[in-house]
Amino acid sequence: MSELRVIAIDGPAGSGKSTVARAVADRLGLDYLDTGAMYRAVACAALRRGVDPGDVDAVAEVARSIDLDLTRDACVVDGVDATTDIRGPEVTGAVSVVAANPGVRVEMVARQRAWATERGGGVMEGRDIGSVVFPDAELKVYLTASAEVRARRRAGEAGGLDVVSVGADIDRRDAADSGRETSPLVEAPGAVVLDTSELGVDEVADRVVGLLG
Ligand code: DC
Repeated sequence: MSELRVIAIDGPAGSGKSTVARAVADRLGLDYLDTGAMYRAVACAALRRGVDPGDVDAVAEVARSIDLDLTRDACVVDGVDATTDIRGPEVTGAVSVVAANPGVRVEMVARQRAWATERGGGVMEGRDIGSVVFPDAELKVYLTASAEVRARRRAGEAGGLDVVSVGADIDRRDAADSGRETSPLVEAPGAVVLDTSELGVDEVADRVVGLLG
């Protein structure tokens, strides 16, 4: 694992992970993987197949059987474009329970490790990259931001949704992601914590790249 060049970027929703991870990948000439999109794709496939997101065994089987083609800008699930659907309210409402499913996590973690192995590493963002997927990553970063800033960012991304209701949804998902038994959201040992509340994307990306020395 040590020959892989993995940059792990973890943190809660709205901490700036995706934007920062993409900027860091561009600067370093590395590929980028949004692992949250993988859990969203499993939730989307379950909903499309009429599987109850809470049915642990059935959803784990969906995760094992899903044909997932995830690129930087598109997500194709079982041959059908899901780029918009995976960000929609139905998937967002179902994804926490899907991501808490141990069978789903085993399958996604295996796919994430395979993704990095195939390309010699990459910039990977999620919740458990530095704690579980690649604990030996070359660099582990944990991004945070104040609850208010995170709600404002997510509301803006979603096309001007109401900040209060987006904040409540973020609180609900944070509690689910941090409180679950399997791979909860934690600051991984050895991770560098960066608060992005007052920083722009370029500043955060500069700091992350600077940490590589
Ligand atoms: O980053 P996001 O909001 O797109 O993530 C979607 C969900 O997946 C969220 O509930 C957290 C979860 N997730 C996870 O459990 N582990 C990861 N490595 C990435 C995301």
